[in-house]
Amino acid sequence: MDPRSEVMLRQAQLFDGKLLLAGLPADDLLGQLPQASGWSWHAGEQQRLQRRFAGRCSFGVDAPAGNFEAAVLFLPKSRELTEYLLQTLAARLAGRPLYLVGEKRAGVERAARQLAAFGHARKLDSARHCQLWQVQVEQTPAHPELSALAERFQLELADGPLQVVSLPGVFSHGRLDRGSALLLEHLDDLPATGRLLDFGCGAGVLGATLKRRYPQSELFLLDVDAFALESSRLTLAANGLEATLIAGDGIDAAPFELSAIVSNPPFHHGVHTSYEASEALLERAARHLAAGGELRLVANAFLRYPPLIETHLGHCQTLAEADGFRIYRAVHQP
Ligand SMILES: C[S@@+](CC[C@H](N)C(=O)[O-])C[C@H]1O[C@@H](n2cnc3c(N)ncnc32)[C@H](O)[C@@H]1O
Repeated sequence: MDPRSEVMLRQAQLFDGKLLLAGLPADDLLGQLPQASGWSWHAGEQQRLQRRFAGRCSFGVDAPAGNFEAAVLFLPKSRELTEYLLQTLAARLAGRPLYLVGEKRAGVERAARQLAAFGHARKLDSARHCQLWQVQVEQTPAHPELSALAERFQLELADGPLQVVSLPGVFSHGRLDRGSALLLEHLDDLPATGRLLDFGCGAGVLGATLKRRYPQSELFLLDVDAFALESSRLTLAANGLEATLIAGDGIDAAPFELSAIVSNPPFHHGVHTSYEASEALLERAARHLAAGGELRLVANAFLRYPPLIETHLGHCQTLAEADGFRIYRAVHQP
């Protein structure tokens, strides 16, 4: 059981009604609270919850419809995303309680200050390195418009300006990451047709650039996070481009027979650092690439990716190195 769920269940009498659990972990909480529903924006957790509690958890950037007696927000990483989520939940809870639960090291104490906008917030419990807070919603906010919270900026790229729409909580919110910037300079000589994948697409900067440069290709953008996929959708639309968006956890969710996989792969998750999704990408990219298909990625120079790429895919070429990042290229020759 996730420690945040354990802290909640210490006060189980508060949570036995029709409750919405937003950003819930994929543990047994829905089993312990039979009247509760979940709302997840993490495709992997959603899939695990769906397997155990079919139909009880929805996925996306909008809270599910329904008249809830209370809601619990599991603190996400980003302050801006917390703001959106608290508002969207509080907007449905006039006169009812909104709870916030999170790890101390994730900043729950600081985030709890954001509850003051809706009423008098109080700490109910502190245990397992987590805190549980409650506010009775007295000042009900208007339903926030997610797209109004987007940061919109323009990148001056070699092949023309690109509009980027980045939503709260999405990687490198409101600016271009240095690693992605380096990769954008090294997208030449990819297969011009066939199926291209932007793995871990975030706001869709790489994918949109690929589609513009290789218009004959069929583009797929994959991310685990619903807010990233929504950002990518908005970025593609802002540039008049079309692609298929895939909500999925890791490379296993990708299509097959790809002519190229392009990625600034993930290496953080929550408050813990994890390279799992990136290592799985390197280990299993070959299964998703067509013969002659290419993996091209940017990574921190200190990450020992080349031996993994050589073991599972083939010769790993370093195309460029700058600012502590490297661009790697490997071609699948079965
Ligand atoms: C380093 S960011 C790159 C974002 C974007 N491509 C860019 O260059 O700005 C990595 C992305 O991978 C996504 N991600 C993390 N874990 C993932 C997983 N298991 N499967 C798919 N995507 C994942 C994150 O949500 C994030 O958007």
